[in-house]
Amino acid sequence: MDKKVTTRTIKKMKESGEKISMLTAYDCSTAKYVDESGVDMILVGDSVAMVVLGYENTNAIGMEEMKIFAKAVVKGAKRSMVVVDMPFMSYHTDLATAIKNCGEMIRLGASAVKIEGCSDYIVELVKRLTESGIPVVAHLGFTPQSQNLFGGFVVQSKTIKATRKLLEDSKRLQDAGAFCVVLEMVPEESAKYVTEGLTIPTIGIGAGRYTDGQVLVCDDIFGKFSDFKPKFARRYANMQSIITDCASKYNQDVKNCTFPNEDEVFHLSENEVEQLKGALV
Ligand code: KIV
Repeated sequence: MDKKVTTRTIKKMKESGEKISMLTAYDCSTAKYVDESGVDMILVGDSVAMVVLGYENTNAIGMEEMKIFAKAVVKGAKRSMVVVDMPFMSYHTDLATAIKNCGEMIRLGASAVKIEGCSDYIVELVKRLTESGIPVVAHLGFTPQSQNLFGGFVVQSKTIKATRKLLEDSKRLQDAGAFCVVLEMVPEESAKYVTEGLTIPTIGIGAGRYTDGQVLVCDDIFGKFSDFKPKFARRYANMQSIITDCASKYNQDVKNCTFPNEDEVFHLSENEVEQLKGALV
């Protein structure tokens, strides 16, 4: 096994220009396969709320549910760095509660937490988490937990003024201790400008080609989540049709009695079969 990916590895990758790959995973076996694929970072994204639990949006998931997914992914990942998304309202009410909740994810085995936004409060939180030994991934641009404020899934930082503000915010989070920043749904040029202005890596999702790394939702690349396909997501398979195909073949085999077959059953010994026959009469 290659060496475990740490914050130091991620820092070095920015310095050497090696692109950072991050992918979400929500269960132990997927985390194991993603880990084996060589992906650097696994994000237990709160997107799990939509793609696995079928909730309307990411704000519907809370700490208790996120902890179950975090535990499963931590068990599956050996080399990749596991980052857990802090759920909506788990870090907003006050610093003490926020630090306690983030600490719980680290205690479960995560290597870092991801939090959205850049208010004075969030900057202070990033500082306090870092001081407590909790590595933080920041998240700017379109931040899904604020989708009600944005009025839907809307591309952010579409002006020069907003792009400058994006860099300013990213720098504040960098100075507070964040070790990388996810930039979601911003123009490629804005993401490039921010990437060049920071010493920590940027990881883009719908942020173009010039960020230091990329992140996507695993169900999108597997072709498993079919409610909608974001413009920036690339599908590498069509798991939806693979699963439907398998299930329908199984259904037919059960209905026409070709499942199970001789190789798929257990037997008693001949002697036991005879005794059983005797017991029936
Ligand atoms: O929840 C999520 O999946 C995310 C994205 C950045 C991939 O936050």
